[in-house]
Amino acid sequence: KSIKVFAPATVANVGPGFDVLGFALNDIGDELEVSMTSDDKIRINKIEGYEDLPTDPGQNVVGIAIRALLQELNLDQGFEITIKKRVMPGSGLGSSASSSAAAVYAANVLLGNPFSKRELVKFAMEGERASSGKAHADNVAPSLLGGFTLVRSYGPLDVVSLQYPKNMFATVVHPQIEVKTADSKRILKKEVSLEVAISQWGNVAGLVAGLASGDFDLIGRSLEDHIIEPVRSVLIPGYAGAKHQAMASGALGCSISGSGPSIFALSEGKTTAKKIAKAFEGYYSELNIDHRVYISDI
Ligand code: HSE
Repeated sequence: KSIKVFAPATVANVGPGFDVLGFALNDIGDELEVSMTSDDKIRINKIEGYEDLPTDPGQNVVGIAIRALLQELNLDQGFEITIKKRVMPGSGLGSSASSSAAAVYAANVLLGNPFSKRELVKFAMEGERASSGKAHADNVAPSLLGGFTLVRSYGPLDVVSLQYPKNMFATVVHPQIEVKTADSKRILKKEVSLEVAISQWGNVAGLVAGLASGDFDLIGRSLEDHIIEPVRSVLIPGYAGAKHQAMASGALGCSISGSGPSIFALSEGKTTAKKIAKAFEGYYSELNIDHRVYISDI
């Protein structure tokens, strides 16, 4: 038995929601071809796109996530996997999460769906633990469930799919430098003041409320991140200028995608999303920094 699956790239944090909020980008993601074998070995045959990633299943997030799923079932089952990587590692677009999500989804289908999609999140998180040092779920949850998701709690894991308005678009620019999630997690401060925490949870709640009621203005007012962005933005070339370009083009808000260096802007409608894409293009071309721009509905 064999299956081909696609799991989308994702934007984690979404402004103020560090490690708890994320959304899926519909048009970009990794593809996996997975088949069950008659032995108990997990084999990664080929990684197309980024050949320098490890094919050792104990080192690759795909093998690690499937192993976590098998362990829960107390099962020794072999799989053969081909990975087509479309999401660049170190981009801040949930590259490892996309592969992990696709892997556990495919294995689950081949095994006759012992788990729901929501239950698969905890296995895919093991891939994140291996790649970034922390089993965060804000990329794997939207990659598996689609749309916007909230990790309400990590202990116990409580993942909620959020309501959000139609006509939401994301424009993403990826300046082509690699930022390792583990590094960009290390530079974060361990403590925040009560004053800053208040402004942050006001924004998280405002964002969730704005998404649920389709209040684009409230979404826009709530996208500022007072904790992580000031620290991480220094790792991203041209960050302040890119954000300025997005806001001047009508974005609801603009912030770092995951741990960077990608930057995302949210907008109401495709026309604005395209305008932002053009502004990002022009800006990074002028700076002479290689970049890729994506537009996706959510
Ligand atoms: N929430 C994680 C972080 C996502 O910002 O470190 C990594 O893509």
